[in-house]
Amino acid sequence: MTQSSERTASHAVAPVFIERWSPRSFAADTISDSELFTLFEAARWAPSGNNSQPWRFIYAKRDSASWTGFLNVLNEKNRLWASKASALVILVTATAVQREGEAQPSPLRNHALDAGAAWVSLALQAQLSGWKTHGIGGFDKEAARQQLAIPEHYQAQLAIAIGKQGLLDELAEEFQPREKPNQRLPLSALVAEGRFSFS
Ligand SMILES: Cc1cc2nc3c(=O)[nH]c(=O)nc-3n(C[C@H](O)[C@H](O)[C@H](O)COP(=O)(O)O)c2cc1C
Repeated sequence: MTQSSERTASHAVAPVFIERWSPRSFAADTISDSELFTLFEAARWAPSGNNSQPWRFIYAKRDSASWTGFLNVLNEKNRLWASKASALVILVTATAVQREGEAQPSPLRNHALDAGAAWVSLALQAQLSGWKTHGIGGFDKEAARQQLAIPEHYQAQLAIAIGKQGLLDELAEEFQPREKPNQRLPLSALVAEGRFSFS
């Protein structure tokens, strides 16, 4: 059994899987290039369909010239808490690839799935490196396309807030009740042998 203060795994897993969670309170820390690129490095080694590596990471650090532009694409609620993060990353995927000798770009059918693999690698490395991450699907993908000059055949998938966990009472009151690790469905509801047998 693997246990953290709030979560218990029903089978033995490396502690990082249950210790990673997504806070909304962030402290004032700044993140160095070296610390940030360690997270991208972990994501780089994620598996992808045909090793296509469709992920691209566009980042802004807090207090940089591009920070406000990144914040502005987030939904209002997400912007409230994410504004204190040390960095924001927009994970973009290539949706098609132009192969030599082919007239049309070929679609990359697994690009969104591959993005998930890259995101979780980044999140787990962050946890191992003493950082917290929070994935954000609530942002305006078209606004991100304009703001970050994302071209055709690429698609914004996920915003990721990265920072050190901050103090609960410095988080806007509306988010405070949810500021703790949440739980998961039991394995019995998720795993079946031989055939689909879920209720
Ligand atoms: C694809 C994706 C989109 C998400 N979008 C948001 C979001 O818009 N706002 C938010 O506060 N949290 C968002 N989350 C965070 C999830 O709610 C959170 O990961 C989930 O509740 C599990 O909690 P944990 O990460 O703390 O284990 C998102 C997470 C993922 C993976």
